[in-house]
Amino acid sequence: MYTEKVMDHFQNPRNVGEIEDADGVGEVGNVKCGDIMRIYLKVEDNVIKDIKFRTFGCGAAIATSSVITEMAVDKTIDEALELTNKQVAEELGGLPPVKMHCSNLAADALKTAIEDYKKNNK
Ligand code: FES
Ligand code: FES
Repeated sequence: MYTEKVMDHFQNPRNVGEIEDADGVGEVGNVKCGDIMRIYLKVEDNVIKDIKFRTFGCGAAIATSSVITEMAVDKTIDEALELTNKQVAEELGGLPPVKMHCSNLAADALKTAIEDYKKNNK
């Protein structure tokens, strides 16, 4: 059902944790399943320098959170805002159709964290 890359990110998730003095925090809940994801950002000169996540959710939610942190780090916030759930799923070599909504959670949490950063830095 899952690709090797999904299993790898599920079993060894990257960038798990919290950032105490985060510049932006985004939390979203998935209306379909009730899973929750929180993303913390450290931003310098508009570039994402550090990113951590906590996910209370299924294996696909953990894998997509993990891989989106790798995709977003060192990107400008505008580049990171353009990351889509489809790209996240592709990066993992695909997700089973019933698990596509899990990748929405990762993309939405990242967007919410960036919006929070922008709000804090007006
Ligand atoms: Fe709980 Fe899948 S959402 S086992
Ligand atoms: Fe809820 Fe995957 S089943 S995010």
